Amino acid sequence: MKIGLLGHGVVGGGVTEITDSCKVRKVRRLEVTKILVKDEWELTDPRCTQNAEEILNDPEIEVIAECMGGIEPAHTFAARALESGKHVVTSNKKMFATCAAELLGLAKENGVSVRYEAAVGGGIPWMSNLERTERLEPVTSFRGIFNGTTNYIISRMEETGAPFAEHLAEAQSLGYAERNPVDDIDGHDVRYKTALTALKAFHTIVNPDEIPVMGIRTISPGDLAWAKEHQMAVRLFGYGKAGKDAVTLWVMPVMISAKEVFANIQSNFNAIESESKTLGKAVFVGQGAGALPTAHAVVQDLLDIYEEKDPRVGELVNLPVVNSEEKWQFYIRTAVPAFFAEIAAEQEGNVVFTRELSIQEMFELLKECGDESVFAAVVMK
Ligand code: HSE
Repeated sequence: MKIGLLGHGVVGGGVTEITDSCKVRKVRRLEVTKILVKDEWELTDPRCTQNAEEILNDPEIEVIAECMGGIEPAHTFAARALESGKHVVTSNKKMFATCAAELLGLAKENGVSVRYEAAVGGGIPWMSNLERTERLEPVTSFRGIFNGTTNYIISRMEETGAPFAEHLAEAQSLGYAERNPVDDIDGHDVRYKTALTALKAFHTIVNPDEIPVMGIRTISPGDLAWAKEHQMAVRLFGYGKAGKDAVTLWVMPVMISAKEVFANIQSNFNAIESESKTLGKAVFVGQGAGALPTAHAVVQDLLDIYEEKDPRVGELVNLPVVNSEEKWQFYIRTAVPAFFAEIAAEQEGNVVFTRELSIQEMFELLKECGDESVFAAVVMK
């Protein structure tokens, strides 16, 4: 099966490293014949070209593996590939979370597949396990750590007691962070992954902008110490729950019991949990970022296409995102504790521990409070 690879950076480079060296007979059949690169200095392999047309118009190429990142031109290339009857595998959560409705529609019209295992959870077989669960029963909820960069930063802060900024640079140097680390730090990366998980698990197209998001930009060693004193740990979570006519989806730091598996997830690892009726809770742990784990997921998708294992995409719906029903207690560390007095169950200095309220109410208050250094977390004890 001839493959056109778009992008030869961290993930794309990992894909050729695996496909060129793997000795497994089936993987040897996955032949990357052309590679699109952006800059002249990347023309390091005879298969490389800077001309996308050479790949998109090559009738021998059956599958496009898109590992470019960013929305354009990745979206246009993916759409053109599908229109010309090529399957698409993508590791690009931002592009696919933004353009899924259109691209899945094109795939259906043209009788081809779009797979996106590598876009969520790096190397963890998350999407494929959601597909397996669904063969028996609907997935009812999911939650967990979807971002390697922020988990690396938080767990390093736990180890060293040093502030956030000191560990961000480390995560970047290890190749975990996005080109623009703001997407990691402010939770947008988890937002895309939460939208894509909702797509796979709940069959709903969600505009990522509808998912309330708070990242870890303002986290301090004091917040981690407070959590530890109360037998908890801080982690950045994506969360989803299926309702009848709506879905609950949010991205926010949580304080979770130190006994839970999530509290012990270190470095760039992700831990993502699905829940369904007979399987119950199942947690998948693995490297959520990095070249080879993510490339592994791309190659798995290529193999699924080679083996014609792509399950049919059922009907998709457009359920609204509603975050007003479930109630939680929250930890808030703020320069303006008096602002939160009405919702406080307890207050110790600049820390407010709230009574139960919804994510929607919490986000409204955080927006209104005017404190740019505020840090808040859902308490999931
Ligand atoms: N920047 C992402 C992360 C890469 O840190 O998880 C994998 O999606």
